Amino acid sequence: MSAGELFVGLMSGTSLDGVDGVLCRLGADGAWQGVIVHAHQPFAPALRERLMALQASGPDELHRSALAANAVARAYADVVALLLQAEDAPPARSVRAIGAHGQTVRHQPGLHDGCGYTVQLLNGALLAELSGIDVVCDLRSRDVAAGGQGAPLVPMFHQGVFGGDGRARAIVNIGGIANLTVLRPGLPPRGFDCGPGNALMDHWIERHQGCAYDADGAWATQGRADPELLARLLDEPFFRLPAPKSTGRDLFRPDWLQPRLAAGGPLAPVDVQTTLCELTARAIADDVRREAADATELLVCGGGALNGRLMQRLQALLPGLPVRPTDARGLPVMQVEAAAFAWLASMQVHRRPAGEPAVTGARGPRILGALHPA
Ligand SMILES: Nc1ncnc2c1ncn2[C@@H]1O[C@H](COP(=O)(O)OP(=O)(O)O)[C@@H](O)[C@H]1O
Ligand SMILES: [Mg+2]
Repeated sequence: MSAGELFVGLMSGTSLDGVDGVLCRLGADGAWQGVIVHAHQPFAPALRERLMALQASGPDELHRSALAANAVARAYADVVALLLQAEDAPPARSVRAIGAHGQTVRHQPGLHDGCGYTVQLLNGALLAELSGIDVVCDLRSRDVAAGGQGAPLVPMFHQGVFGGDGRARAIVNIGGIANLTVLRPGLPPRGFDCGPGNALMDHWIERHQGCAYDADGAWATQGRADPELLARLLDEPFFRLPAPKSTGRDLFRPDWLQPRLAAGGPLAPVDVQTTLCELTARAIADDVRREAADATELLVCGGGALNGRLMQRLQALLPGLPVRPTDARGLPVMQVEAAAFAWLASMQVHRRPAGEPAVTGARGPRILGALHPA
């Protein structure tokens, strides 16, 4: 095994909870070697509000987007500084590159003019300026330009870390949106977005209890899932679409929920929360049954893995299939996505293609990402 190279991976997903960063080591061939340091920094409330407002179109959005992209770069630079301040951390100059996701505000691949677009706000030039490290960002656009969904990009990384032992396995990342990867020995990985992860649950508890999220699913545990509302929510055509498919807050947002709520009788807010938790669990479990019937375990990562109620419901809906956090396979749940973006940066700097056409639907493998040299 080579000594490996150091990369930083930075992820801020559709939950808009903040930035997860890892400093990690990868072989020159992209082989996973491990995390050295992890850091999480929540977005300042004012920045979160600005990013939330940019999820829908509004006045002066070019100007607001450009300034938000600068603010995201500063938030990312703070996380890089945290990683490099850690005890035993190497000097910045020994980090080969940063792989930075940016904040998705629109995801519309294949639409409008046939190409469509996906927008992750991040001023990569400013992040290179502030960190003094090469920055690889805008990692989804090339796949979209090649006719793909630009998402999910993580299945190849999942294969490198969680595959290779001759067993079929499913991995679900439950961020704001949930995405599934299916690994089978000797085959390219499969993967697609399942639907909502935490985003709707976060919205509902914020509105009714003033908290950012339902810690451990404790509130959802107190209510009762409403079968009629659940059926109306599951009636969404996205759930029946074949892969490749991806989604975001463009679809699963409060005004997707509102008419489906209004179509039934009044419900206690706590019962809505329980139903939303059940929706996330059902959408994932249905996809696992349909697409990964031969899996020997379901590994869960992302913040949803910390929701005890959601994990219990997944296990109950998938009897006989062990449901475990990715910690059980050596990578803690909040580090997986950030590590995947470090891996994507390593693929870019070595000019190796990274997206999996079988997953995204792109016309072929492409080298992903834009490079801002230090
Ligand atoms: N202790 C917890 N209990 C329940 N849910 C949690 C907990 N910690 C985090 N979460 C959920 O995870 C989300 C963040 O997950 P993350 O994987 O960072 O998503 P994203 O990639 O969309 O940013 C939070 O918004 C919250 O919904
Ligand atoms: Mg997050």
